[in-house]
Amino acid sequence: MSVTGWLRARKIELAWVGFALANWAAMLLTPDWETIPFHFIWVSLTILYGYRVWRLKATYLVLAAVALGTGVVILNDAFQGSQLWGELFEVPLMSGMFLAMVWHAQRRQIALNETARVAAERASLLDHQERLLHDVSHELRTPVTIARGHLEMLQLASDDPPPEIAVAVDELDRIAHIVDRLLLLAKAERPDFVAFYDIDLQPFLEDVFMRWSEVAPRNWRLGEVPAGTLVADPQALRTALDALLENAVDHTVAANTIELSAEAAGSEVAIRVSDDGPGIPADALDRIFERFARADSSRSRERGGVGLGLAIVEAIARAHHGRCSVASAGQGTTFTLTLPGFEDAPGELPKFDGKFSGPARV
Ligand SMILES: Nc1ncnc2c1ncn2[C@@H]1O[C@H](COP(=O)(O)OP(=O)(O)OP(=O)(O)O)[C@@H](O)[C@H]1O
Ligand SMILES: [Mg+2]
Repeated sequence: MSVTGWLRARKIELAWVGFALANWAAMLLTPDWETIPFHFIWVSLTILYGYRVWRLKATYLVLAAVALGTGVVILNDAFQGSQLWGELFEVPLMSGMFLAMVWHAQRRQIALNETARVAAERASLLDHQERLLHDVSHELRTPVTIARGHLEMLQLASDDPPPEIAVAVDELDRIAHIVDRLLLLAKAERPDFVAFYDIDLQPFLEDVFMRWSEVAPRNWRLGEVPAGTLVADPQALRTALDALLENAVDHTVAANTIELSAEAAGSEVAIRVSDDGPGIPADALDRIFERFARADSSRSRERGGVGLGLAIVEAIARAHHGRCSVASAGQGTTFTLTLPGFEDAPGELPKFDGKFSGPARV
């Protein structure tokens, strides 16, 4: 570290040294008021140490210097008769108080270091886990695609292909779906997953709504959507909304209603996907955002669900510093994706043009 860097890093200590020397000079020059600058020195040292927990060696050196400096002046004045001998006891008393403070601060420092170490270890473990998830999913993709291709060729080559081939193709599709979901989930946990743009909320949600209303016959409704700009990653936001709308379609029939709407509250916007389907049992509400969690696993499996859609939605919400919540009381379900960064005025970031022409995420 350069000298100026060192001086800048130690400016509080240097300021204290100046303050302590001024008080020490006052002790020398005004014996009548001596105990006041004496206490100023010790109290300021204790306060300073509370902010800067020095290494033990440096701490003991400073303590020795202060005890010696103040003790010598009082001792001298006691000999001169301008100070009571009893005042000399203040020096070991103040040193003891300071040492008690050092003991507590050191214990706190050790606890803080341990917390930081555990947090770093956990972060690296999570990172390792996500990388493994990503690599395994990636490696699985190719063999699944090749096996599927061979089975399709067998199907085409035979006039009466055995039904087992269709079952095997279905299962491979399921594996491919899981792999795609896992890959997306692994990416969604990375800090660079999101690329922020200004999204004109009304046309964006209208576009998502139009695409889905053509996928399945339902009583589709586009509710109120506030005009304004949302700072978000359009690809990720669409992925999250697709997962919520896909769930709504999966758990409803043609006679049911699915509604997409949004509501602004200050700088946040709450995007809602609600349906009047069978709802989610209360005891499952807490765990449906976990990986591989399904409220009714046998029915979800029939539909090809693996229980990763909502984990992806939550990871996307988190990457936007937002949240996703669910409400379901007996009948019907409402998922609310709450995101910050909404303004009812045009934004300043590059504007998202509504076309998903960028590189595919999966
Ligand atoms: N709109 C809904 N109505 C009723 N149940 C729902 C609804 N949305 C989600 N669920 C329940 O929550 C579970 C978890 O949903 P999630 O999207 O995470 O997984 P999935 O749909 O089973 O599989 P995936 O989305 O990975 O293909 C579902 O299995 C289902 O039981
Ligand atoms: Mg789903």
